Amino acid sequence: MFNYDTYSVLGDGDCKYQGAISPPIFQTSTFSGGEYSYTRLSNPTRAALEQECALLEKGKYGFAFSSGLGAINALFSTLKKGDRVVVTDDIYGGTYRLINRIYKNYGINFVFADLCDLETAKKAITKGTALVFAETPTNPMMKIVDIAAVAEITHQNGGILAVDNTFLTPYFQNPLTLGADVVVHSATKYISGHHDVSAGIAVTNGKRLASKLGLALSTLGNGLSPFESWLVLRGLRTLPMRMEKHQGNAYAAAEFLNSHPKIEQVIYPAMPQHGGHLLCKRQSRGFGGVVSFYTKDEKTARKIISGGRVIKFAESLGGFKSLVTYPITQTHASIPKHIRNRIGINERLIRLSVGLENKEDIIADLATLLAD
Ligand SMILES: Cc1ncc(COP(=O)(O)O)c(C=O)c1O
Repeated sequence: MFNYDTYSVLGDGDCKYQGAISPPIFQTSTFSGGEYSYTRLSNPTRAALEQECALLEKGKYGFAFSSGLGAINALFSTLKKGDRVVVTDDIYGGTYRLINRIYKNYGINFVFADLCDLETAKKAITKGTALVFAETPTNPMMKIVDIAAVAEITHQNGGILAVDNTFLTPYFQNPLTLGADVVVHSATKYISGHHDVSAGIAVTNGKRLASKLGLALSTLGNGLSPFESWLVLRGLRTLPMRMEKHQGNAYAAAEFLNSHPKIEQVIYPAMPQHGGHLLCKRQSRGFGGVVSFYTKDEKTARKIISGGRVIKFAESLGGFKSLVTYPITQTHASIPKHIRNRIGINERLIRLSVGLENKEDIIADLATLLAD
């Protein structure tokens, strides 16, 4: 299980100032003398967050960006023309848009494949594949990728494996210890946890990749600001307690939905009937706080997304507030219809990010939203 002994803000070394327990915010764009020169390149508050994230992800090098997509953009910027990249087909719509609208124009060859199916993964990850990019659980279908197995296939073919660990966070899953080469996060979600900051993280053990990511951060100019770094650091301190509560509430919500006559199917990896349940149990320490589900008809789905007293309709996940998202018109709207159909994103699919509210209040709100 999670080792609380290592869960402390140990990365605040550079920030020690006058014995302050909470590291100060170095709200300065430039420095005269000393180790730091210019905040776009590096800043002590950002460095404190980067060290902490590296520690939690069991990596050596951490980087903090202005958003999750900022982190993924920095990773993709390390590619070159002609590179082949294999990506999970069930993926956050913004990542898909970054690939399809920006990086495809640069002569990089992206292949989408169901990496949850190892036979498909073996066929897709061919010799010379430079990068494999996977989310697990995937967004929004909550499918589980076997990180160790995909890492092995990737390495045999000479590539590196990146895992988007946004949904489980380092509290529940450490992809680097399973063989991944780099981990990325939308820290806008659980890592910061309070719906008040947009941030991204990348962590690796590889020195060469770290130097490329460092160059990307300082040159693309998308490093996280000192104030937002401080906000994320503050969020991190309660990550274990929040993740436990998110998960407990999610389990209760999933059980309630599963027994409701207006719900067709609940997709939550903690449930034994979920296809990736055993794999998730093996490679992770928990199942997280996101539950996707199909209603029996579109009318019910539309009613749920009108929002309730506790549960609000909004993009995003992983914060204190329970949020429902409608992937077809929101997070995954930029994915072409034929791909959405193949993955299973339709008018009856809802993604619920279960918040930190009282469990009974969440269930009561769901019951009201599902009432005739
Ligand atoms: C799994 C996943 N990765 C990356 C992102 C992008 O993060 P951000 O919105 O912080 O840029 C998101 C956003 O929802 C996400 O869900």
